[in-house]
Amino acid sequence: MTVTVDHRPEAPAGPPKLDRDQLRRAQQDTLDTPRMKYSLLAKMMFKPVDIMYGKQGSYTKFAMLEIIARVPYQAWERMGYWAVHHHRGRSALARRIFERIVEARADQDNEQWHLLILQDLVQRTGQRQTWLLHRAAPWLIAFFYYHVSWVLFLVRPDWSYRLNAEFEDHAEHGYMTFVAENPELDFVPDPGTYAAEYGRYRSVADLLRQIGHDERTHKLDSLESMREPRVR
Ligand SMILES: [Fe+2]
Ligand SMILES: [Fe+2]
Repeated sequence: MTVTVDHRPEAPAGPPKLDRDQLRRAQQDTLDTPRMKYSLLAKMMFKPVDIMYGKQGSYTKFAMLEIIARVPYQAWERMGYWAVHHHRGRSALARRIFERIVEARADQDNEQWHLLILQDLVQRTGQRQTWLLHRAAPWLIAFFYYHVSWVLFLVRPDWSYRLNAEFEDHAEHGYMTFVAENPELDFVPDPGTYAAEYGRYRSVADLLRQIGHDERTHKLDSLESMREPRVR
């Protein structure tokens, strides 16, 4: 007997891919929008990062930040599984929680592409990464961020979403400002290493604008989740 499954949560497609004009407009929108007011916790991560990697954007700094970026989504995924198990007697609620798990996994995948793309740009431009600054430190910060994310999620999920929105806002502005400060990137062709999975852009500038726009989408999703932090 063949069973047809016509409704199951598919992996979301991820943030929309923009064309050249839309990417330029997206960059201008970001530059025209003031940064969020960052909380003390967010500043506790941004400050040491600026001290260790410099205030200016760079491929190595972005690659390091992308290691950390997927951590809250991992924390929410794990908390989601715990909640599904906790509410196993309420199938409709468990299904809604599972939908959020699927979203969290899609966002982790998107951040993973960012990391792979940035790491590829680091290698192509021959920038040096050290064990301390680019392996040990990101791991330590990610460790801290992971635990902060799930503990916050347990006590005040809206705070956990807010913290991620601040992190995403910081990333969005970081990419868009970097592109504005390095106009020559508009003339560097996108190497297209992950074109099949992430799309191919006219230039490295457009590739980074697309990543910046993904970060804005992540931010807006987290702000949206803040309005209904607990699945009911
Ligand atoms: Fe990212
Ligand atoms: Fe992000």
